[in-house]
Amino acid sequence: DKGNHRHFMLKEIHEQPVVVAQTLQSYLRPLEAQVALPDMEFDLAAIERVAIIACGTSSYVAMIGKYWIEQFARVPVEVDVASEYRYRDPVLTPNMLGLVISQSGETADTLAALRHLKVGGVTTAGIINVPTSSMAREVDLLLPTHAGPEIGVASTKAFTCQLAVMAALATNLARAKGKLSPEEEREIVRHLAEVPEAMSDALSRDEHIAGMAPRIAQARDVLYLGRGPDYPMALEGALKLKEISYIHAEGYASGEMKHGPIALIDDAVPLIVIAPSGPLFDKTVSNMHEAEARGAQVVLISDADGIAQAGENTIATIEMPKVHPLIAPLVYAVPVQLLAYHVAVAKGTDVDQPRNLAKSVTVE
Ligand code: F6R
Repeated sequence: DKGNHRHFMLKEIHEQPVVVAQTLQSYLRPLEAQVALPDMEFDLAAIERVAIIACGTSSYVAMIGKYWIEQFARVPVEVDVASEYRYRDPVLTPNMLGLVISQSGETADTLAALRHLKVGGVTTAGIINVPTSSMAREVDLLLPTHAGPEIGVASTKAFTCQLAVMAALATNLARAKGKLSPEEEREIVRHLAEVPEAMSDALSRDEHIAGMAPRIAQARDVLYLGRGPDYPMALEGALKLKEISYIHAEGYASGEMKHGPIALIDDAVPLIVIAPSGPLFDKTVSNMHEAEARGAQVVLISDADGIAQAGENTIATIEMPKVHPLIAPLVYAVPVQLLAYHVAVAKGTDVDQPRNLAKSVTVE
């Protein structure tokens, strides 16, 4: 049931503050100011490497997880898309955690990668939305997301719930590794608890984003830029746009622009820049200015400070609440999803059932 919404995708975008809160509730202990995982039969403190494997949108959660786990827990992380991992003869070692991420828990390549890890004797965990799925049954440690059934083919609420669980895992691993003081953990719990409200605030930009969508819908190509965890967000923005609006879109790490992609820039190419104010802001903005100087039609997604500093020569801005860098990916996912949605609606494509795509990819 779509409720009052025109599409399942829009309904699921708007459900996010509730389902992310539901998901966080099972991982946060606000009274103790701690993050908790379900009971496990292995010692998290013994983990020396993490391999994260997923497909599509779930693989962008893996990439963001790499930034978080390496930063907080100082444990090295490798990330692969499942179709590559299963055939590249990866090095499996004792004291390694193999982590799969999947909404459906049935994606053929991810399931095959999980079985490959298990045959190799690797301890496995899974961030999975469907609790009865094959992956949920086969992982050593199930880390459930509580997004509820996701009907729209383009993943939205599953993505942000996966990010919430990834933040909980990174925090727990950091504590287990002795890299996190109780004060630091208290701060993380406080910031995670702020996510639902910040997401609601982001959702209030819905009409503003709908207003700018017809202009973006004219484009043949759209580029997305971000740095740090906003680089996977740029990839997610581009994937969402291409899958439901059929506009060619690519995401790039901001610093890579000058190594080739900048050749694509002219005044017909919208450039969506994802840049919350913070330590990486000035670097991304300098890449944005280089593109503007070549005619790029910039849409800047940032907070009030970022927009005041760099919003001048843009064609549009989308203002987000000012949030801690840890939770920025959860909040900035919202405008990225809404922009893809409204551009698709402006183009008149079938948002919930895009051509050539299936909700669950059970063949490789
Ligand atoms: C994108 C999308 C796909 C899935 C991918 C993995 O919007 O929905 O890219 O993310 O097929 O699916 P799961 O997470 O079910 O393994």
